[in-house]
Amino acid sequence: MARLALVTGGTRGIGAAIARRLAADGLRVAVNYRGNEAAARDFARDSGLALYRWDVSDHQACLDGVRAIERDLGQPVEVLVNNAGITRDAMLHKMSLEQWREVMQDDLDALFHMCGAVIEGMRGRGWGRIVNISSVNGQKGQFGQTNYSAAKAGVIGFTKALALESARKGVTVNAVAPGYTDTDMLAGIDAQVLDGIKAQIPVGRLGRPEEIAHAVSFLVDERAAFVTGATIAVNGGQYLA
Ligand code: CAA
Repeated sequence: MARLALVTGGTRGIGAAIARRLAADGLRVAVNYRGNEAAARDFARDSGLALYRWDVSDHQACLDGVRAIERDLGQPVEVLVNNAGITRDAMLHKMSLEQWREVMQDDLDALFHMCGAVIEGMRGRGWGRIVNISSVNGQKGQFGQTNYSAAKAGVIGFTKALALESARKGVTVNAVAPGYTDTDMLAGIDAQVLDGIKAQIPVGRLGRPEEIAHAVSFLVDERAAFVTGATIAVNGGQYLA
C-alpha cells in the first residue's frame, strides 16, 4: 500500500506544489490548510486530494488533525512535510509583540506540535520521513525579518536535533531552505524592494514552487535513507551556506 504523506499549508504556493509532486510520486497525500477556503476548494477540485482544516499553531488541533486523518484514511502518517508558514515583516524597532509571536507560533512552534503528533508512531514502526521547510532568510538573515529569520533558523536547529534522536529508528529528518520563490508570499513586498532582491539571485530569477518540491521528493524517497539532519538550499545561488 502507498505510504501516507501529510503536507501542512498545502493548498497554495510551495505546499501545493509539494502535495502534487508527492501524489505524482505515488504517495497517498493529505493536505492541511488554515483559512483560505476559496484556494482550498480550487485545489481540492484540481488535485483530488483530501483536505483537512486546522491551525498548526494550535497544539491540540494538530494532535486532533493527525488523528482524524489516520482514522479517515485508515493508515498512519509516514511522511510529514511541515510547510505552513507566514511572514510579518517589519524592522525590529517597529515590530509589535504580536508580529513576533505570530511568526514564532506558526513557523516554529508548529514543528513541535506536528512532529510531536507523528514521531512516536514513526519510531515504533521503524520508518518515517520528516521534511521541514526553512528559508534562505533563516540562513543569511534578512532586513525586516528578525522574527522570520529567527524562526527559520530555529527550524534548522530543530531538524538537526530531531534527526539525531531519530536516526536509529529509521526516521530521517531534513530541512529544505527555499530562496525567493514565485508565490503569494512575495505579493506584499514593494516592487522596488523585490527587484533589488532578484538582482541578488545569481540564477537571475525567482524560484518555482516545483523546484522546491523536487528537493522534498528526493528527501522522502525510500532511497534517501542515509540523508538526515541535512538542509538542502534551493535558492538560485543567492546564499551559499
Ligand atoms: N538593506 C539595507 N537597507 C535597507 C534595506 C535592505 N535590504 N531595505 C530597506 N532599507 C533601508 C531603506 O532604504 C530605508 O533607508 P532610509 O531611511 O535611509 O531611506 C530604511 O531602510 C527603511 O526602509 P523602509 O522605508 O522600506 O522601511 P519600512 O519600515 O517601510 O519597511 C520592510 C521595511 C517592511 C522590512 C521592507 O523593507 C520590506 O518589505 N523588505 C523586504 C523584506 C523581505 O525580503 N521579506 C521577504 C518576504 S518573502 C519570504 O520571506 C519568503 C522566503 O522565505 C524567502
